[in-house]
Amino acid sequence: MDDDRHVASLDDVPTDGTLLVTLRNGDGLEEVILTRLDDGVAAYKNYCQHWTDVRLDKGSGALVRNDEIVCQKHAATFESGSGYCNFGPCEGSYLATVDVEVDDGEVFVSEDGYTFEHVGESDDESRSSGSRIGFGG
Ligand code: FES
Repeated sequence: MDDDRHVASLDDVPTDGTLLVTLRNGDGLEEVILTRLDDGVAAYKNYCQHWTDVRLDKGSGALVRNDEIVCQKHAATFESGSGYCNFGPCEGSYLATVDVEVDDGEVFVSEDGYTFEHVGESDDESRSSGSRIGFGG
């Protein structure tokens, strides 16, 4: 696996929270959250399925409780392993996934076109402008 696809060590990914990273996809940057599972790691794009301008992780980790990622805005819960929303205003939806692989204790992004940029927020102004591009409700 290429060095530019290396995201983090497995030990850096919490089971009771998320690790926020920024990945490059072509010319753009995307924030992705990683959370540890019993058998590896799951990676999701860092926005809620209810209001897509709401970040699940604002930089210090999203709340993960009982193997569910909790949106702190309206408390929708998403199963850590699948991203399925089992409660809340966007119940029945799924978080947008990004493919990752674990190799010898290291996490790599395996989704086509993606490379690692840095740990933390994207610093993309549009993410904090408050523009609402998601669903109503
Ligand atoms: S914005 Fe996440 S549940 Fe409403």
